[in-house]
Amino acid sequence: MDRVFITRQIPPTGLEMLREACEVVVWEDELPPPRDVLMKEAAQSDGLISLLTDKIDAALMEQSPKLRVISNYAVGYDNIDVAAATARGIPVGNTPGVLTETCADHAFALMLAAATRIGEAERYVHAGKWQTWHPMLMLGQDVHNATLGIVGFGRIGQAVARRATGFGMRILYTGGSRAGDIAAELGAEQVDLETLLRESDFISLHIPLKPETTNLINADALRTMKKNAVLINTARGKVVDSAALYAALKAGDIAYAALDVTEPEPIKMDDPLLTLDNCLIVPHIASASFATRDRIGQIAAANMLAGLKGEPMLHCVNPEVQGK
Ligand code: DGY
Repeated sequence: MDRVFITRQIPPTGLEMLREACEVVVWEDELPPPRDVLMKEAAQSDGLISLLTDKIDAALMEQSPKLRVISNYAVGYDNIDVAAATARGIPVGNTPGVLTETCADHAFALMLAAATRIGEAERYVHAGKWQTWHPMLMLGQDVHNATLGIVGFGRIGQAVARRATGFGMRILYTGGSRAGDIAAELGAEQVDLETLLRESDFISLHIPLKPETTNLINADALRTMKKNAVLINTARGKVVDSAALYAALKAGDIAYAALDVTEPEPIKMDDPLLTLDNCLIVPHIASASFATRDRIGQIAAANMLAGLKGEPMLHCVNPEVQGK
């Protein structure tokens, strides 16, 4: 029987699927397995269900000759050295699609929360500062009819755009080379990054982390944005230069940031971003609905089971190794 190591507890449906077919070992702790444990477990396993917190690199694969399948419980897979897996003929699965709508809901929630200063307002009430209704209290920005810039027009970016049409927003986007028809349907306009940064009131990031997207939002990009701009990041922390973001928010060069992701994760408690009222930070929960996290587990399990049988995964990021 194949042995599968899962680096954390996952929702029940996917877990059951795996237990029916494999010997399953689950790392039950709240925190990720330490490196030495991960190495030891991987070395004994045929399959590894990993999380975005687990570094699955060439060294780990090198000392795990039995390892035939890696299935990431996430759509993003920047925690995995895919080239190293491909070189060893190991298929790597991910979970696109099932989390699209939930992540888009969350990006929109962050946008509305930042625009209307929900986090600050809640802290204000809890601190007992609410004394009266005042015409100038906690003024924010309108989302309706504003311009939304979507950086990365894949599944999630498009789902955010669909929501934005209900708010009468003008929609700009970059990327999405195959999204012309959908863009036309939504009335979204493809522009270059500089135009998007210059013209948008809200900028939402939906790009994977790659060498070319690392620090894409740097001091120059932030300088290009409007003073009232709100930056929403549900992609990966490293896409934004956080020191530059802090400087821009502090100086009022942009109005607000709402971050689901940070670099590092968790954010360090002495990170200056945490001192700012105009920076809303939540702990990487954009896909965290009960239903979606269960569906992610099902896809991760299905990918694993297919990979162990030598069959094509539902979603494989290096399909060239499948069936070899
Ligand atoms: C992913 O899947 O990549 C998200 O960041 C977590 O759901």
